[in-house]
Amino acid sequence: MGNLAIETDNLSRAFGQVRAVEQLNLRVPPGVVFGFLGTNGAGKTTTIRLLLGLLEPTEGSARVMGFDTRREADEIRPRTGALLEHPGIYERLSAEDNLEFYGRIWRIPAAERRTRIKELLTHLGVWERRKERAGTWSRGMKQKLAVARAILHRPPLIFLDEPTAGLDPVAAAALREDLAGLTQREGVTVFLTTHNLAEAEKLCGLVGVIRQGRLLAVGHPDELRARAGGPRAEITGRGFTPELVSVVRALPQVLAAQAQNGRLMVDLRDDVPLAPVVRAVVDAGADIEGVQRGAASLEEAFLALVEDSR
Ligand SMILES: Nc1ncnc2c1ncn2[C@@H]1O[C@H](COP(=O)(O)OP(=O)(O)O)[C@@H](O)[C@H]1O
Ligand SMILES: [Mg+2]
Repeated sequence: MGNLAIETDNLSRAFGQVRAVEQLNLRVPPGVVFGFLGTNGAGKTTTIRLLLGLLEPTEGSARVMGFDTRREADEIRPRTGALLEHPGIYERLSAEDNLEFYGRIWRIPAAERRTRIKELLTHLGVWERRKERAGTWSRGMKQKLAVARAILHRPPLIFLDEPTAGLDPVAAAALREDLAGLTQREGVTVFLTTHNLAEAEKLCGLVGVIRQGRLLAVGHPDELRARAGGPRAEITGRGFTPELVSVVRALPQVLAAQAQNGRLMVDLRDDVPLAPVVRAVVDAGADIEGVQRGAASLEEAFLALVEDSR
């Protein structure tokens, strides 16, 4: 067991025929920001509900901060904070009173409560607006308040379920900045779910990819990128027909190729020259505008993992 923040053993949860989480074996060490990455319906929220003891596993087990989710959920609750799909904000209360309310629930002494609330709202850039009713706040500000609520009682572990979902790009970027600062400053372990790779790349030191309830891979974002991407080339232009793509795939230098929106992505064998590949593309009738060598982005790594598992 050691002192892992989260440890699951074949954790599984079915809803009728739907295997929402299937044989999940996950180890999250303390102090990391773990990104649980998957598309809609992959099983992210179900995993969080299992880890919080809000849902019974149909098979397997999990320990959070060393406590069994089935038998010791009461021990887990005070040691964790969570921002779930329903943010748990009282719209008719001011932002400050929302946090006051939760601070009392956690039995934080009055003086400490006030210091903590000021600290959090200041860092999140909303201290000046603390007296306003939360219901009048923008979605982005409400999410900030929900983050403050989740971390108020200084739990060593917080769960953030798609914290930026439904925010416009500017608000999402702002929240990401705040989360990066907050998690670093507080040294809190974070279990964050997202379907946004750029978000995982910005915030997370460790990423797990889940698809249809199954964990496909775990690693540092760089590792996942490296695993999915050896050397590759991206060719932009016109005329990348399915026939041409087949021709490219059949080249001895090429491991895989796919075309999308005027881009031809080619995975190359190690250290092969690119010229024969480009020549073959031209010979097959395409118009080339640009050629670039590079490694895979996390986005491509993620898609490759999801594709491979089909
Ligand atoms: N309470 C429930 N009843 C029935 N099916 C559910 C329930 N919760 C989740 N599911 C199903 O389990 C799968 C995983 O859902 P979820 O964990 O919410 O995915 P994610 O959070 O990754 O989008 C989906 O197919 C979803 O429809
Ligand atoms: Mg979800």
